[in-house]
Amino acid sequence: MAGERTPIVSGNWKMNQNHFEAIQFVQKLSYLLQKDDLDAVEVTLHPPFTDLRSIQTLIDADKLRLKLGAQNCHAEDRGAFTGEVSPAFLAKLGVHYVIVGHSERRQLFGETDEFVARKVAAVQKHGMTPILCVGETLEEHEAGLTLDKIRRQIRSALDKRTSEQVKSMVVAYEPIWAIGTGKNALPGEAQVVIAAIREEVAAVTSRPASAAIRIQYGGSVKAGTIADIMRQPDIDGVLVGGASLDSTEFARIVQYRRQSA
Ligand code: PGA
Repeated sequence: MAGERTPIVSGNWKMNQNHFEAIQFVQKLSYLLQKDDLDAVEVTLHPPFTDLRSIQTLIDADKLRLKLGAQNCHAEDRGAFTGEVSPAFLAKLGVHYVIVGHSERRQLFGETDEFVARKVAAVQKHGMTPILCVGETLEEHEAGLTLDKIRRQIRSALDKRTSEQVKSMVVAYEPIWAIGTGKNALPGEAQVVIAAIREEVAAVTSRPASAAIRIQYGGSVKAGTIADIMRQPDIDGVLVGGASLDSTEFARIVQYRRQSA
């Protein structure tokens, strides 16, 4: 992890944990994490929409140093979009981070690069930080198309953003074949792709933006695998699905520095 970029560990619960389970989880996690852990690592939680208000109230009441995140939002502020959630409403709820363009949204719900780019802009318009997901399928991986795919995704999402806007963003590189499969990209392989993402960010925006943007790895990250991932120079954090549902396991992921100490 390069010097000035604060590591960021994010828990993407997907469609798991109702608001009662969420409250219990957050209470347990905040008990397991120490001040030192939270001084060193930024922790974001991305529960289902129905849990957001409960967790926000708990974070405020107990002054917890956990950042509230969402898993998705719409690109418009309001209107006739049945079933969608406005980024303006998320900002009002104290949401700091919004995952944008997760591969499950792209593959299962037909989100295009263009729509993802509009969402990135909408999230930033409301003062929140997008976590932009990019990544290749198994077929693309095997055909050697990984870098073409991620460069296209990065270019489409960032080319209308200013250098200042890009500096504050987070990108998550999630090879689709590694999500929920128990198969990790090797830390060295992930480093190569993430270094290429950083280069593409420099080409699309600026060198200072590419030095500042934080890039996570995601895909079957566990407490036993994170320390090696975080040793890679361009990897600034992880986006965790399955292993973020168990508070003990997730706390151990946040505490990866203890393993390397
Ligand atoms: P996983 O999910 O850790 O269960 O592979 C990662 C993600 O989809 O964000």
